[in-house]
Amino acid sequence: MKRDVIIACDFPTAEDTIRFLDNFKDEKPFVKIGMELFYGAGPDIVREIKARGHKIFLDLKLHDIPNTVKKAMSVLSGLDVDICNLHAAGGIDMMKAAVEGLTRADGTRPMLIAVTQLTSIDQTRLENELLINKPIDQVVMQYALNARQAGLDGVVCSPLEAGKVHETCGKDFLTVTPGIRFADGAVGDQQRVTTPAKAKEIGSDFIVVGRPITAAEDPVAAYRRCMSDFAE
Ligand code: C5P
Repeated sequence: MKRDVIIACDFPTAEDTIRFLDNFKDEKPFVKIGMELFYGAGPDIVREIKARGHKIFLDLKLHDIPNTVKKAMSVLSGLDVDICNLHAAGGIDMMKAAVEGLTRADGTRPMLIAVTQLTSIDQTRLENELLINKPIDQVVMQYALNARQAGLDGVVCSPLEAGKVHETCGKDFLTVTPGIRFADGAVGDQQRVTTPAKAKEIGSDFIVVGRPITAAEDPVAAYRRCMSDFAE
């Protein structure tokens, strides 16, 4: 798997997103579409960005009973995206059903990755609200193993966890990692961040970068800096 930079297009409307992508004349970055844009603009924004030649990570984090997730995934598969995701907390049967739903008649399917624990969940919340009395990194690794057992391709995790996920689940199990900042950039609301170069060193397969590119004065230059630090 070739390392790549995925731009988190966290814009409220299709127009804002297309205006942003119009900055890129010489390259076609891999794009992440999240819930806000998808629920606001609908599946047409996925078709439009795909038609412009971008790869797409559709970040909708499905979590429901296996049959419902299977049917929803088969709809998403028809959108021809490159990566989809779900919550590993839905269980192994739900993840297996998702793989079945995503798989097209010709046997191809988008890559499927799992969210293990949201980065907004810390040890205290895990114990007091979710009543899981285990160290959070143990929970993350068990959920990653469950995802691998269900036939998924990898997980979304912190770049700082990518090495441990590879040790636990194998080097071919993908790690897709947000929480990326330039050493000289603003951290914002992210807690545990690392630079594109450090993410490469630890072993991330894909980094997801939002504001360091989308809010940069020169987004194309910021994207190229990420690519040269991480992917080349
Ligand atoms: O702007 P920034 O680089 O912080 O954007 C990171 C992107 O990755 C956002 O779309 C955010 O929702 C997403 N994300 C995250 N942490 C996770 C999962 C997803 O920051 N654990």
